[in-house]
Amino acid sequence: MNIVVFNGSPRKNGGCAALIQALVAGAQKKGHTAKVFHLIDQRVEPCLACYACMGRKVEFCVHDDDFTPMARDLLAADTVVFASPVYMGQITGLLKTFFDRWITFAEPDFSIRHVKGKRFVTIVTSGAPADRFKEVTDYLKYWLGEFFKMRHAGSLMAGDLHDPGDVQKRPDLLREAEALGQAL
Ligand SMILES: Cc1cc2nc3c(=O)[nH]c(=O)nc-3n(C[C@H](O)[C@H](O)[C@H](O)COP(=O)(O)O)c2cc1C
Repeated sequence: MNIVVFNGSPRKNGGCAALIQALVAGAQKKGHTAKVFHLIDQRVEPCLACYACMGRKVEFCVHDDDFTPMARDLLAADTVVFASPVYMGQITGLLKTFFDRWITFAEPDFSIRHVKGKRFVTIVTSGAPADRFKEVTDYLKYWLGEFFKMRHAGSLMAGDLHDPGDVQKRPDLLREAEALGQAL
């Protein structure tokens, strides 16, 4: 099984990154392969609302940036992982800008192409206790599950994390992430 991961944290040494690493290690134990994209390294322009994608005037988007190669990996994946810290009560701008570009997967009648039926996992980190920003996980579950018709395969909410290394002091969270990967 192919897994593709999108990390919305700008910290490649942060909590999301470590939890992703643990999830991937768990998945690899089961023989799965995974590709991780740190969105901070990718050039992803904002959606222009031109609707050229919905009109099928272009394959994915009028922008010639890193979204199209990532979309090809996404299409080849069985499972998609969205990871983000909570920023001002929401997913990060990095992840949101990337996610806006998913309008390309919606048909003009809002039926869904390409991603429908794939499995998804969410990882959300926060400075506050984990359940304080449950709505961020609920947001991702709604849009990936209800709107994009993907199948929920697990969610990890990790709170009380501030400095990049904090998660290393939380073996419970690293174990939970690894178990999520193993269960895929
Ligand atoms: C700009 C900014 C906004 C943040 N907003 C929130 C917030 O609204 N709620 C919260 O609990 N933590 C907030 N945080 C803290 C991060 O969510 C937290 O440190 C998280 O564990 C970082 O994850 P990372 O290590 O994967 O980058 C914010 C941090 C930054 C830099």
